[in-house]
Amino acid sequence: MASSEVEILDDYLFKYKGYVFIRDEVQPEYIDSLENFEIRDSDVFLVTYPKSGTVWTQNIVTMLYESELPPAPPTSDTTFQRMPWLEYIQKDQDIINRPSPRLFASHLGHYLMPQGVKDKQIKVIYVSRNPKDVLVSYYHFAKIMAKLETPKDFDDMLDRFEEGRVICGSWFDHVCGWYNHRDDFNILFLTYEEMIKDLRAAVVKISQFLGKTLDAATIDHVVEKATFGNMKSDPRANYDFLPEDVMDKRQGAFLRKGTVGDWKNTFTVAQSERFDQIFREKMKGLPVQYSWDISEIKQA
Ligand code: A3P
Repeated sequence: MASSEVEILDDYLFKYKGYVFIRDEVQPEYIDSLENFEIRDSDVFLVTYPKSGTVWTQNIVTMLYESELPPAPPTSDTTFQRMPWLEYIQKDQDIINRPSPRLFASHLGHYLMPQGVKDKQIKVIYVSRNPKDVLVSYYHFAKIMAKLETPKDFDDMLDRFEEGRVICGSWFDHVCGWYNHRDDFNILFLTYEEMIKDLRAAVVKISQFLGKTLDAATIDHVVEKATFGNMKSDPRANYDFLPEDVMDKRQGAFLRKGTVGDWKNTFTVAQSERFDQIFREKMKGLPVQYSWDISEIKQA
């Protein structure tokens, strides 16, 4: 890796291959090595841009797999252990030599995925969320995460987001990249808003995509465990297990509001109009639509 390919963005982030990583957590050499990461046919990847419902879907997917196992006491494993990150190495965990099926979470762009994900047509679930809610969620997230610079104010956050000076870089590049290359992958697209609208339907969709035939009671159980309220009180699912030096819980919670349209409480009209214009230009022709307000979902 030529060091010139690395661009330091701030005290916490660096850009590499058009993508933005947390400086302390990832080495460019490791990202390079992922191209040849050995993929098994039964692997499953959940891919998202941050703040789009990753933990929510991680929880659902892992529960769908756990529900097939013989009855056992509920595991105390955290979300990171049940579905580890591909790009963030867990010091206490060997993510490669786990028994199949291996479940992985990733925020990577489509072009940084291991080649085997395409070659073997393994299952990828991609969840995206309307970017205004992503932005506001990230704004609060940046305040509680020790490894992210706290934005000066929301204007500053908006600039960073539009310029891609946030983890994973540009939201537009991420979402457009995955949708434009959809034919290269065996992929299920979901939106956060459709999960909010009908969680059960989303769980059934995920379960069918994963080739599971679960009875109605099992699906109901997964849905119940995946509600915002239940996840908020489930330490293994809500990131409360993260130490204080990683996440400062006094400044806020990881499971914050869990709704659609909270951006309206933060964006000014001018900021919203500016963002809409960029959204219209960049998302032209993409086969995805977002709901921007909870009332759209309730009325539908
Ligand atoms: P908010 O900050 O808007 O509340 P990610 O896991 O990708 O970082 O996404 C975090 C966002 O998903 C947070 O959004 C969080 O509250 C929301 N979320 C997590 N679990 C949820 C659930 N069960 N129902 C609804 N939203 C959920």
